[in-house]
Amino acid sequence: MAKKALVFGSRGQLGIEMSRGLQRDGWEVVSFDRHTADVRQADVVHGFIESASPELVVNCAAYNLVDRAEAEPAAAYYANALAVRNLATACRKCGARLLHFSSDYVFDGAKGEPYTEADSPHPRSAYGVSKLSGEHYAFAYLDTALVIRTCGVYGPEGIHTAHGNFVETMLRNAHAGRELRVVMDTIASPTYAPALAEKAIALATDRRAGLFHVGGGQPISWFQFASEIFAVCQLSADLIPTTRAEYPTQAERPMFSALSNAKLEAEGFGAMPGIREALTHYFDRREDSLREGNRAH
Ligand SMILES: NC(=O)c1ccc[n+]([C@@H]2O[C@H](COP(=O)([O-])OP(=O)(O)OC[C@H]3O[C@@H](n4cnc5c(N)ncnc54)[C@H](OP(=O)(O)O)[C@@H]3O)[C@@H](O)[C@H]2O)c1
Repeated sequence: MAKKALVFGSRGQLGIEMSRGLQRDGWEVVSFDRHTADVRQADVVHGFIESASPELVVNCAAYNLVDRAEAEPAAAYYANALAVRNLATACRKCGARLLHFSSDYVFDGAKGEPYTEADSPHPRSAYGVSKLSGEHYAFAYLDTALVIRTCGVYGPEGIHTAHGNFVETMLRNAHAGRELRVVMDTIASPTYAPALAEKAIALATDRRAGLFHVGGGQPISWFQFASEIFAVCQLSADLIPTTRAEYPTQAERPMFSALSNAKLEAEGFGAMPGIREALTHYFDRREDSLREGNRAH
């Protein structure tokens, strides 16, 4: 009999990849978007998990509005922290394992080189605090929780999802002929969602527990990443490097938040694809997705 997995936050760019990937690997998957299951509602979460009694619960739901969270920290905390408590307590009741995703924003960026799982978190924003609290809830209630921190997620389904991603923002502005000012002094490791989902499924299938970093594997500034995007899709854009001093934001973001994948690789789960390879795959999948969308109309 197929192993059963429940996926929460299934309409986000990672939730779509996780649902598909698990199905491809032979899991029986039941997916819940925000409308079918709001993870902030303990009774709803407990009801679905306890009645399905799955082997695995995957949480891809998140409040990702980093700047807005400074004005409404409680909203971020309910969705990113207390919701994880709901999922963890339900998993504990029926013996399910929890796979939860966290963020590079749990770090302050002062290290200046890729963060490992051994580095101490020190979030500087309401969003970062809420994501770190979610990790604590997962590990507080479950000995078997698997928490994967990731960074700057971009998946081809971002073309359709409510919150999109950096690649789609770049393309939309370039097509509109707008000048694109992108920070060159903020370094991250943008992460390709289908590759992240593949690693996450491999870790969960291998019954791994604890904390893993799965980033894109290559520290790069957002300006350099934008340049790579336009090089791969062969679009000319009015791209201008800028600094965060010129573009202050509500939330304080780490200057350097690339994640080290050393533990993932050392434990035999392989490297993430390089940026060019990931972006080439992104644009192939995006084309397919657009063609399918056109056929459906
Ligand atoms: N995106 C990034 O750059 C990034 C960076 C670091 C870490 N992460 C982490 O990676 C994971 C996946 O993110 P993603 O890129 O797939 O984000 P996404 O595309 O914004 O998807 C998040 C999904 O969660 C849903 N959601 C929000 N609140 C919910 C609630 N209360 N109950 C149920 N569903 C809810 C959203 O629905 P609505 O569309 O209706 O709001 C959306 O479908 C998250 O844990 C995120 O924190 C992401």
